[in-house]
Amino acid sequence: MSDDFTTLDGTQAAVWRRLEAAMSDPAAPARNIALATADLQGGAAVRMVVLRAADRAGGRLAIYTNALSGKVAELEADPACECLVWDAEARFQIRLRGAAEVLAGPGAVWQAMAEHERMLYAESPGPGTEMEDAEDLADFPPTPSAEVFRLVQVTLAGIETLQLARDLHRRASFVPGPEGATWQGVWITP
Ligand SMILES: Cc1cc2nc3c(=O)[nH]c(=O)nc-3n(C[C@H](O)[C@H](O)[C@H](O)COP(=O)(O)O)c2cc1C
Repeated sequence: MSDDFTTLDGTQAAVWRRLEAAMSDPAAPARNIALATADLQGGAAVRMVVLRAADRAGGRLAIYTNALSGKVAELEADPACECLVWDAEARFQIRLRGAAEVLAGPGAVWQAMAEHERMLYAESPGPGTEMEDAEDLADFPPTPSAEVFRLVQVTLAGIETLQLARDLHRRASFVPGPEGATWQGVWITP
C-alpha cells in the first residue's frame, strides 16, 4: 500500500503501518526505536530499544528490558517518555509521546527465548555494573533470570509526524479522541 502523506488519515495510517511492520520485519525502520526518558538527575536520557508490539486499537507500544536497567528506575520515577522513528526512505519522522508502565515480562516469551537472548536479562552482574576491562565479562558470565525480564508498555498520549517531501514539509499532530476512540489530527507549521 502506498503512503499518502498529503492527508491526515493517510499520515496516521502511515505511522501505524510502520509500527506494525516492525513486528515481522527486522529491517523495518521502526524495528529499533529511540526511547527518551527523564533521568534521575533532572536531565534527559535516550537509548535504542527493539519495538516488540504496536497495538493501534489500544494506542500502545511495548518493549522488553531488564528490571535492573537505568531506564526502568527512570520510568518508575517518571513514566513520561517519548519514542522516535526515522524512516529515511520515506523521509518521515514519527514522535510517539506517552506514559510507560513496567510489567513482568510474559512467561511464554521467556520460555521461547534463545539462551543468547536471555543474556540481556542478567540478574548478576546487572546492567551498568562497572568493570576494569570489557573482557572481564568473560570471567563473570551474566546469569539470566526471568525474574528481571520486564515488558514496558507505553500508552500513547500524542503522535507527531514530519514528512520532508521535496516540495513541502508536512508536520502533523495527533491526539486520542474522546475515550480514546478515534485519534484527531491537525496540520501544524513545520
Ligand atoms: C539496536 C539496539 C537495540 C537495543 N534494544 C534494546 C532493547 O530492546 N531493550 C533494552 O533494554 N536495551 C536495548 N538496547 C540497549 C540499550 O540501548 C541500552 O544501552 C541499555 O538498555 C542500557 O540503557 P539504560 O541504562 O538507559 O537502561 C539496544 C541497543 C541497540 C543499539
